[in-house]
Amino acid sequence: MLPEQSAGIPAALNRAIQQTLAKGRLAVTRPAGCPGIALYLFDPDVLQGPLSHDEAQAVVAEPAYWSFCWASGQVLARWILANPESVRGKRVLDFGSGSGIVAVAAALAGAGEAIACDLDETALMAARANAELNGVTVTLCNDWSDRGTGIDVITAADVLYDRDNRPFLQIFRQAAPVILLADSRVRNLEEPGYQQQEAHEARTWPDLNEFEEFNLVRLYRGEGVARINRR
Ligand SMILES: C[S@@+](CC[C@H](N)C(=O)[O-])C[C@H]1O[C@@H](n2cnc3c(N)ncnc32)[C@H](O)[C@@H]1O
Repeated sequence: MLPEQSAGIPAALNRAIQQTLAKGRLAVTRPAGCPGIALYLFDPDVLQGPLSHDEAQAVVAEPAYWSFCWASGQVLARWILANPESVRGKRVLDFGSGSGIVAVAAALAGAGEAIACDLDETALMAARANAELNGVTVTLCNDWSDRGTGIDVITAADVLYDRDNRPFLQIFRQAAPVILLADSRVRNLEEPGYQQQEAHEARTWPDLNEFEEFNLVRLYRGEGVARINRR
């Protein structure tokens, strides 16, 4: 058991997880792909216990995204912690923040402001709780169009599972000079303005036993076409 497991699990988040699985609960855990950050996530012990077919289906078919840390989030957060100059002093917006791991990494690495942006209100609650757990703060934003101007870096990890998000890759280039994208879903991303930098193995945490092809995360750097337009 991690020392942080004695910390109080936010009750509202626990209740939210029980909508997916009645016996679900959260635990403080450190994803194997980014052990430098502790997170309130789906308790792995519950998932390892015997689950009925219907329960397993409920978890996999409609996961509370914020209650898992996706492979790409781990890889991008670890990269940011190892390359703090990429965000230091900057205004960073993490699109599709889920648990908030990437926004928390940016805050820990010295970002001037780290914004967690997610359309799921519960994910934003999780991002705030996870920031507190790591001794940092993040700004919450539940609508991309409310982000304001003057974003220096946009990060996005595992958001391309939803095809409707693909157009955002060019929208991001209009909104910030640098985009850091991590993705494990699209095998050959040929997107103007984006260059693949690195690739790393990681698994969703707790492990959802996804197809092996989803365990290779590619990191891309996107180049913005916008000049910084401060608020
Ligand atoms: C697979 S999870 C990834 C979470 C986190 N980035 C990670 O790597 O662990 C995708 C998240 O993106 C959010 N999301 C998807 N489309 C979005 C959109 N258009 N605007 C804001 N958030 C979005 C979902 O609500 C979900 O929390």
